[in-house]
Amino acid sequence: MSSRRVRDPDVLRISSGDPDFEAPSYVKEAAIKAIQEGEKWTHYASAEVTDEFGKAVCNYYSKYGVKYEPAQVNATAGSGVALYIVMAGLLKPGDECLTFDPTFGSHFRTPPEVGAKNVFVPLNKGHFHLDPEDLKKKITPKSRMLVLCNPNNPAGTVFTKDELKAIAEICVENDIVVLADEIYNEFVYDGHKHYAIAAMEGMKERTVLVMSYSKTFGMTGWRLGYYVLPKELEPKWKSIPARAQPASFILHAGAAALNGPWDYVEKACAEYDKRRKFFVKRMNEIKGVSCHMFEGAFYAYPNIKDLKIPTAKFVQDFAAKEKVQISDGGSFGPVVAQGHLRVPLVKPVEILETVTDKMERFIKDL
Ligand SMILES: Cc1ncc(COP(=O)(O)O)c(C=O)c1O
Repeated sequence: MSSRRVRDPDVLRISSGDPDFEAPSYVKEAAIKAIQEGEKWTHYASAEVTDEFGKAVCNYYSKYGVKYEPAQVNATAGSGVALYIVMAGLLKPGDECLTFDPTFGSHFRTPPEVGAKNVFVPLNKGHFHLDPEDLKKKITPKSRMLVLCNPNNPAGTVFTKDELKAIAEICVENDIVVLADEIYNEFVYDGHKHYAIAAMEGMKERTVLVMSYSKTFGMTGWRLGYYVLPKELEPKWKSIPARAQPASFILHAGAAALNGPWDYVEKACAEYDKRRKFFVKRMNEIKGVSCHMFEGAFYAYPNIKDLKIPTAKFVQDFAAKEKVQISDGGSFGPVVAQGHLRVPLVKPVEILETVTDKMERFIKDL
């Protein structure tokens, strides 16, 4: 039985990356006002509506030193569908899609759906960082795309500028397109800095950026994300007959969100940081568990290899016995991901404390 099928209502679910923060009030107000006004906000999105959204995105992302034009911005109902559209738009049958191990499931579930082949590159250096040689080794004449999840879900890696430069050089040399999934860009800790791969030399024209409102603004249910397609890739783009555009009033609210104020996001980041420090420390106090202090996103990724129990079984038995559903970190990749649990820190410290106490008890009794 898969761990997902535990349906006990008494089970505390802390397995999906759904923030426990509500959308900022100024974003809700923008959406409500737009619905009440009707007209352009409640019909098919006009050029004016998409332009307002596109401008807000370009203005926002310029903080990374990358200048886009509003017409390059394509809004989607969440970034999950953007990932699919970009892969289906640019991958052809027989192409190889490089993806890191570990990474978010859609990054490797989608390429085979469109006839491409996954080629996993291990994040083996230190705590889930990249040795560029590992990437070089996997390049073939069929390498077409690299999926870069930065910051990484599930391991929280924030790729350094040097890593990104090395990735950029390899991609330019081998004519590889990068799908940059940067949806956790606002959550980085301990002085780590988010850099855009598109800002590296030769990369703007070969990077498709994918972003989401789900995590940044606690807006998972609003379904709002986007991808930014460089003009240079348009001739290679296979248009997908998918109607993925969100509602016009959601686009308006999305523009409002990016225009700020940003104190909401700063507070959320500080809260995740507090949870991160608590949870990681506590994990390392449990015999048989080791957990690195992740650098970005909001997932703890404890290593339980010493317990010699398959992670899927751990997750299932933990849910059955202690009524806490976490996720199987081993499902995020074929090799490096193995032996890990993944816990999204989307609950307050008091609840995380209960989770860690239960985990300690459960492990003692194994
Ligand atoms: C790395 C990454 N990309 C994309 C998504 C999809 O998010 P959404 O469709 O809610 O925008 C997720 C969701 O957890 C994710 O972790």
